[in-house]
Amino acid sequence: VNGVMEVPVQVNVLWRTSAENISDAQIQSQIDVLNEDFGATNSDYSLTPALFQGARSGDTKIRFIWTSANTTRKQTSKNSWGTRDAMKKSKQGGIDPTSPATTLNMWVCTIGGGILGYAQFPGGSLATDGVVIDSKYFGRVGTATAPYGLGRTATHEIGHYFNLRHIWGDATCGNDGVSDTPTHNTSNGGCPTYPHYSTCAGNPVEMTMNYMDYTYDACMYMFTAGQASRMQATYAIGGPRASLIP
Ligand code: ARG
Ligand code: ZN
Ligand code: CA
Repeated sequence: VNGVMEVPVQVNVLWRTSAENISDAQIQSQIDVLNEDFGATNSDYSLTPALFQGARSGDTKIRFIWTSANTTRKQTSKNSWGTRDAMKKSKQGGIDPTSPATTLNMWVCTIGGGILGYAQFPGGSLATDGVVIDSKYFGRVGTATAPYGLGRTATHEIGHYFNLRHIWGDATCGNDGVSDTPTHNTSNGGCPTYPHYSTCAGNPVEMTMNYMDYTYDACMYMFTAGQASRMQATYAIGGPRASLIP
């Protein structure tokens, strides 16, 4: 309705320790973060520097629908799951996705190796489609852990699910395919002091507070209008995520 894409969400929780078996309240907190961040109603959106206020997205018109019935929980003996999709396969001890053509599947488990989360871009196999988030970086209550305890890992990964690239284009002064994001030298971490100047052509101020950089959760709070358009294009008719259209 009103041009808003409402994405049904299935949450697949794989747990060994009771801490990994995160509560429904922790899952709900993640859904709340996503609806705030994609709706630009997040409380830190107003921190956007004046320089970037013309480029910021406003409401991306993407929302996320979840109730506790849309949760699969499975106990496991695995300490960590890595990044090769085992958590998505019941034959490997994981959980198969639920209706991945029409539903965003999120797997919550211990990934290991210092990885916060990872995503599948549009156009991949339905059997592995969705995002994976480490349980310590999922939501903003319960076991959510600073400096990645505000639920922004899922915001970032769902950006990838909707075809967004890293803001530095995964190369030195690379191209992210979005014209209203500045060229970044490389990824930024921590909480950069503003303004942080790029040494790429034209020395633009880097948009370190964009969700598609690598800064701390408290230091990222915006998408741009160009990023919102690129996400929306994936579910336009004929797009690689058109199957999400009800
Ligand atoms: N390293 C992960 C990725 O590239 C996620 C980074 C999320 N950043 C954050 N502040 N939560 O997909
Ligand atoms: Zn990423
Ligand atoms: Ca750009």
